[in-house]
Amino acid sequence: MKAVILAGGTGTRLRPLSQLFNKHMLPVGRYPMIHYAIDKMKEAGITDILLITGRATAGLFIAYLGSGVEFGVSITYRIQEEAGGIAQALDLAKPFIGADERFVMLLGDNLFEDSLERFANQFELQESGAMVLLKHVPDPRRYGVPTFDASEQTIIRITEKPETPDTSYSVTGIYFYDSSAFDLIAGLTPSERGELEITDLNNAYARSGKLTYMVLNGWWTDAGTFESLHEAAIRMMARPSDAE
Ligand code: G1P
Repeated sequence: MKAVILAGGTGTRLRPLSQLFNKHMLPVGRYPMIHYAIDKMKEAGITDILLITGRATAGLFIAYLGSGVEFGVSITYRIQEEAGGIAQALDLAKPFIGADERFVMLLGDNLFEDSLERFANQFELQESGAMVLLKHVPDPRRYGVPTFDASEQTIIRITEKPETPDTSYSVTGIYFYDSSAFDLIAGLTPSERGELEITDLNNAYARSGKLTYMVLNGWWTDAGTFESLHEAAIRMMARPSDAE
């Protein structure tokens, strides 16, 4: 299985810090944020990685990660020229993913404890479609929120940042897709804010009954705000593997 890591975006909620730095290069404990995304892929045995970022800061990623050799992975880079939404960025991965290949996409600001291995193995058993990872959260209104079918086997729809959430789960930024993702992206239209939304791609899978889910056990945070960035740093500093 290949991986696509998204590390672009404007990081508006982290201004003024993100005016100087791409948010994925901000320090989280001992490392820049992007370090953990690569670590997580390596931990799951996923070593063929595409990193998508913007033009202005791509050099920093190359300087830090290089070919991936120090991590034991292989990194390919693609540039997203203009921010046009997560699904638009994902579309840049089309030439990297083979015609019948499955892949995992990770939003680079998602930091978490669980290994992705068991989720990747489970997704390999799924006949086709997509799978999202969920996490129980105190305030689902900040995220994409799933609505389950009656048997709770699949997701029938995801609502982005709902006022009155159907469940107390967040759809995390960890997504597993089959290669039909690119055909489905081709059928998407920009949202009100002019972007191709990842939630619209997931809902396209959901409409055909092919959006499954699993739940993360360990801690998870989307380090896109000052509070969550701070929390992530504390968690990462406590990692036993990094103790000196
Ligand atoms: C994005 C997705 C949202 C998801 C979140 C997880 O939101 O649109 O569905 O719950 O990532 O990190 P954003 O952080 O771009 O607002």
